[in-house]
Amino acid sequence: MCGIVGYISKDEKASSILLDAVKKLEYRGYDSVGIATINNGKIELRKDSGKIDEVDREIHFVDMAGSAGVAHVRWATHGHPNKTNSHPHTDNNNTIAIVHNGIIENHEELKKELIEEGHIFKSKTDSEVIAHLIEKFISEGFNFQNAVLETFKLIKGSNAIGAISVNSPNELIAIRHESPLVVGLGKNGNFIASDVPAFLKHTKRVIFPEDNELVIMNSDNVTIKDLNGNILNKKVETIDWDEEMAQKEGYDHFMLKEINEQSVVVSDTLAGGKDIENIVSELGNIKRICFVACGTSYHGALTGKYIFESFLNIPTDVIYSSEFKYFNNVLDEDMLAIFVSQSGETADTLSAIKMAKNHSKTLAIVNVLGSSITREADHIIYTKAGPEIAVAATKTYLSQLVSIYLLAIYLSKNRSNVFHENMVSQIEKVPDYINQLMLDEDQIKEIAKKYKSASVFFFLGRGFIYPTALEGALKLKEITYIHAEGYPSGELKHGPLALIDEDVVVVVLAPSENSNSISINSYNDTVNNMEEVKSRGAQIIAITSYKNGENINVNDIFKVDNQVDELLSPLVYIVPLQLLSYYISIYKGLDPDKPRNLAKCVTVK
Ligand code: F6R
Repeated sequence: MCGIVGYISKDEKASSILLDAVKKLEYRGYDSVGIATINNGKIELRKDSGKIDEVDREIHFVDMAGSAGVAHVRWATHGHPNKTNSHPHTDNNNTIAIVHNGIIENHEELKKELIEEGHIFKSKTDSEVIAHLIEKFISEGFNFQNAVLETFKLIKGSNAIGAISVNSPNELIAIRHESPLVVGLGKNGNFIASDVPAFLKHTKRVIFPEDNELVIMNSDNVTIKDLNGNILNKKVETIDWDEEMAQKEGYDHFMLKEINEQSVVVSDTLAGGKDIENIVSELGNIKRICFVACGTSYHGALTGKYIFESFLNIPTDVIYSSEFKYFNNVLDEDMLAIFVSQSGETADTLSAIKMAKNHSKTLAIVNVLGSSITREADHIIYTKAGPEIAVAATKTYLSQLVSIYLLAIYLSKNRSNVFHENMVSQIEKVPDYINQLMLDEDQIKEIAKKYKSASVFFFLGRGFIYPTALEGALKLKEITYIHAEGYPSGELKHGPLALIDEDVVVVVLAPSENSNSISINSYNDTVNNMEEVKSRGAQIIAITSYKNGENINVNDIFKVDNQVDELLSPLVYIVPLQLLSYYISIYKGLDPDKPRNLAKCVTVK
């Protein structure tokens, strides 16, 4: 999984624009970076392994001349992260440069044939075959665009490619199959990129090529063709994200900025409630629901199960996207399959929706406009989080949760079920609750400082707040590299209690019971579970809104001073957990925006 960019203009220096653009995609991979431009009839290529700023300090990308080029950030799949394996890749004669995101499943056989024909490979990547194949087709008489097309027809897998050639210096060619690719129509030139933030500074006018569509661009025009060479009439869309949304705006890290944006994100998502109500009116009869998602999105989906089963009496499954193919026989037309994904590009979720469509109703809950998963879905709910740059998901999680609550509320209204009553007005208070919590950030910092050297954390929650415990553990693992597990509070005694001793930190989520008639009052059971770990010596951090919370026997307590209903507590309790992980990462001297081995958008299975 990687990020690709291309830019072609009349006379602007492409390298500085490409460097800036590729920095916006660093969340997609940060093993290596490279840029190739066409300079005086030659390919100029600079690349190396390392983070963009480190590499740039050594090789000064902006010194590269030329008004057309391609750029790449890499998250290694085939071949170690090193200079040779970094993109762009070139052909034998250095006349073609390509960038690639995806996996070429048949690269071994293609490479073997090319080597037999005399091609010499420099890298250990699957991607390099693309440059050699284009070279081969050009040598057989194809023009540049058709050489890319013929190459694309030969490769198997999920792929997005950008290519330049000294033989066609005024053309930038791109094509995709199941890997993201978006076209940006700029004032002084045109772009291709894996994601919109790459060029948001220059244009909000975009075209989303479908799978198997060839993009041919020069500085003034963009043409899109199908595989038979027919020109397609594509819609130009306008993105409603602002450039500032993809900037740090004074925060030390995107993650902290994105945590701070959450109260606004909740309000924005609520403001889109009407769209969700409209979708519900089109869904027809639903007897079962199946959520499909990965990672953080899975935790949002799991919260959905508690909501839909407890209060709407709709049997609801939640399946990891990568496991979906083992369960897809249960699909039928009475089922609504809901695919939750921030990026809309996660390979496993994309395959799952392809399996489900035409068998069940499909709904995608996605943050990125025009992304691949949205193209497969019968219905789409766009979460209103804006671009999320930090690798660890925060604000998109909250907007997924709000969307799922709204979906449940409107479904319940449709079924004349009591669940919807007062719920929207209660969620409307959540932005204030979050703002209130953010005022107590210093308290979380102190807790983070105290426990930053712990090596094991457990996160416990019961009922609605259990998926939040899983998400708290995932955030901590991702950005601090501390081993963390989320458990239902009542489950610990069935095995994991054996691990508890004085070196273990247990974070207990204990929302208070309240007067809501559908609240399930699990506070007292949670306190009992807390005692079980306390008596085995664990250090306990309680996060609670219980009115007498200060009397409980814990090492540290973070009071959630609001009356959020237990049912809505996932919308609030996640915030201190995100802050706890963020500050532990800071106190450990790590970069929370770019955790090792991870990338934001997982386009490989
Ligand atoms: C966690 C995280 C990942 C993603 C997962 C799914 O912070 O970012 O666990 O949640 O890779 O990604 P999407 O939601 O884009 O399908």
